[in-house]
Amino acid sequence: MRGDRIAEAGWKGNADASIVRSFGMTSSDSDDASNGWEAVAADLVAGRSRTIGVATVRAWGRSLPAGSSVLDLGCGSGVPVSQTLMDDGLIVYGVDAAPTLIAAFRSRFPQATAACEPVESSRFFERTFDGVVAVGLMFLLSADVQRALIRRVAAALRPCGRFLFTAPVQRCTWADLQTGRESRSLGGEVYRALLEDAGFTLVGTDVDEGGNHYYDAERSRDADA
Ligand SMILES: C[S@@+](CC[C@H](N)C(=O)[O-])C[C@H]1O[C@@H](n2cnc3c(N)ncnc32)[C@H](O)[C@@H]1O
Repeated sequence: MRGDRIAEAGWKGNADASIVRSFGMTSSDSDDASNGWEAVAADLVAGRSRTIGVATVRAWGRSLPAGSSVLDLGCGSGVPVSQTLMDDGLIVYGVDAAPTLIAAFRSRFPQATAACEPVESSRFFERTFDGVVAVGLMFLLSADVQRALIRRVAAALRPCGRFLFTAPVQRCTWADLQTGRESRSLGGEVYRALLEDAGFTLVGTDVDEGGNHYYDAERSRDADA
């Protein structure tokens, strides 16, 4: 993977990280575990780029042992992230809080295991994985939930398991162009520290064609996560 670069974008290269807006939350917003994605699910299914991020995810998947099991958090409809991993023979388990997107995932990949539930409360199929991937998810979550999720991902990984996720390098907030919801990046330095606290080593970073920044972390062999 390439070295660190400044990523200006959050999701699909369409978020202006320099704009900090005020965000009005309604009670229906706070009830929606998908952080606004169920309401725009059809747009994601139809409009998600089939190519952005594929090279990064493919390279990461190919660095795992053959036949590895991978948990895709915020899997959406599974295209292109889960699809790319399955095409290389990996066993993918998907979690997403949007019912419409999990229905699309199940329709496309009937052989895969999927759960419609928030990552905050998911038990991650009560098993461990060789890899966990979260593309376009982390920055949708509150700072506290992001911190807790990094620790829970460590616990869901086997020793030397890998965690690939996206979030801008800058510490920033912005309005997601598709959902209008607030997104927030804790920033590269904080992510690195949180990963280390959870027993990970940051082993690589990458930036895809859409300007999305990837963190590739490896769980320690002997981490007590
Ligand atoms: C930007 S989309 C990315 C989807 C997919 N990973 C991709 O690359 O196309 C974010 C996804 O995260 C899901 N999501 C948002 N908040 C979630 C949560 N708390 N728990 C589980 N899924 C969530 C949404 O439903 C949506 O499918």
